[in-house]
Amino acid sequence: MKILALVGTNADFSYNRILLKFMKKHFRQMAEIEVSEISQLPAFGVDVPLEEQTEVWKLKQKVKEADGVIFSTPEYDHGVPAALKSAVEWLSYHTKVLEHKPAMVVGVSYGRQASARSQVQMRQILISPDCDTNLLPGNEVLIGNASHSFSKDGRLIDPEMRDNLEKCFTNFVEYIQIFENVNKEGLNMSVKQLSISDAYINFPTGRLSLKEVQQIFSTIPFEIDLIDSTDHFAWYSDKPNREHVRNVASLGETVQECHPPFAVPTVMKIINSFRNGEKDVVTRPLWMKGHRSLIQYYALRDVDGHYLGTIEFTGSVEYILNLFENGAWDTDGTTGASKHDDAPAAPAEDAVDASTGASESGDDSADATSSAAATVAPAAPVEDDDTDGTTGASDSGSVDANDEEADATTGASEN
Ligand SMILES: Cc1cc2nc3c(=O)[nH]c(=O)nc-3n(C[C@H](O)[C@H](O)[C@H](O)COP(=O)(O)O)c2cc1C
Repeated sequence: MKILALVGTNADFSYNRILLKFMKKHFRQMAEIEVSEISQLPAFGVDVPLEEQTEVWKLKQKVKEADGVIFSTPEYDHGVPAALKSAVEWLSYHTKVLEHKPAMVVGVSYGRQASARSQVQMRQILISPDCDTNLLPGNEVLIGNASHSFSKDGRLIDPEMRDNLEKCFTNFVEYIQIFENVNKEGLNMSVKQLSISDAYINFPTGRLSLKEVQQIFSTIPFEIDLIDSTDHFAWYSDKPNREHVRNVASLGETVQECHPPFAVPTVMKIINSFRNGEKDVVTRPLWMKGHRSLIQYYALRDVDGHYLGTIEFTGSVEYILNLFENGAWDTDGTTGASKHDDAPAAPAEDAVDASTGASESGDDSADATSSAAATVAPAAPVEDDDTDGTTGASDSGSVDANDEEADATTGASEN
C-alpha cells in the first residue's frame, strides 16, 4: 500500500515533517509512506500558467499513484497555513486527482489545542466539491505541545499520543482497503461484463470475441496507447511488464494533464502534425531500461482519412535486432531467397514457427523481447535528435528535459 504524506508547511524546520517521518518509519510494515513537500510549489493563482508548473504536475502524479494521502497541518492563526491551502488549490484546480482519494488529517502545533482548529478547516476543505476526497471520519490525531512531544531524534514520545496515532493510522489503512475492495468488485463486474466476451465483433476480415481482443492486446510484445481525437488519453493495452507503466486514473485526462509541462509542446506538435495531415508517423528509437526500444506514433484515421486520434506503439526491438545481427535475413541479392535455406533462421533455441511466427522456444515469459535483450550486446545509443530515415519524420521532438525522459503520449518517465 502506497501512502503519500504531505508536509503542510513550507518551513525548513517543521514538527509536522518530523511527525510524518516518524510515521513513515513506525508504520513501515503496514504501508509504504512517501513524505512529500509543498515548499517547491508556487503560490496558487488562477492566472499562474498551469502549463508551466512542473512541480505541480509532479505532485499531482504522486497523488494519483497513491492509495491514500495524509495531510499534516500546522496551525497558523487558528487556521491552515497559506502554503498548504495553496497546495490543495493546485490539487483541485483543473484536475480530479483528489476525487474519491482516501485522505487522513493529522497535525502538530505548539499550542494545547494541538492544531484542532486548523484540522477542522482542513477537513472542510477536503470534502469541498473540487477536492471531494474520501475523508477518514473521526480519528483525530492532535499533537500539541510540539517541542515536548518528540524526542531529539524525532520519535513521538508521548505514549497516549502514540497509542492514538497507531489506532488512527490502522483505521486509515483499513479504510483504504475497504475502498480497494469496492474498486475490485467494480473491476470484477467489468471483467464479468467481458463475458459479454461471448459476444463477437464482426470485422470485415473475420470475427473476434471481446475476450480474444483483450488477450491479443496483452499478448503481442508491443504496447499501444491511444490519445483520442479530442486530445484525451482514452485507452492503453493491458500488456504485462509494460515499458511505460500506465495508470487507469490517468484515463480521460487531457494531453496537458497527463504530461509534464515540458513535454506538452512536443506531444502537441506530433498530434497536430497528424491532425492537420502533415504526417502519418513519427518514429523514435530509444534506449529504455537498458535495451533498444522503438516508439512509433501513428495517426489513426478513418477510411475517409479523418483524424481519430494518435496511437503510441512501444516495444523492445532487441529480439528483432538479435535475429538481424545473427543473419536471419541474409539473402541472395538476385532472387531474394535465403542463402541458408537449410539453416535455421534464428538460433536453434529460439526457432520460430515459419507459418505463424509463434515462438517454439517454450519461453512463456510475457516479455519475450526483454528476455532476448539479456543475450545481446548493447549497441550504441541513438541520438535523440536523429531524423527517422524511413519516414522522414523528425525525432527532434525529444521530450527530454532536466535529464528526465518522458514519453510523448502520457509523459510517463522512462527512467
Ligand atoms: C504565523 C503563525 C501563527 C501561529 N498560530 C498558531 C495558532 O493559532 N495555534 C497554535 O497552536 N500555534 C500557532 N503557531 C505556532 C505553530 O503551531 C508552530 O510554529 C508549529 O511548530 C508549526 O508547525 P510546524 O513546526 O510543522 O511548522 C503559529 C505559528 C506561526 C508562524
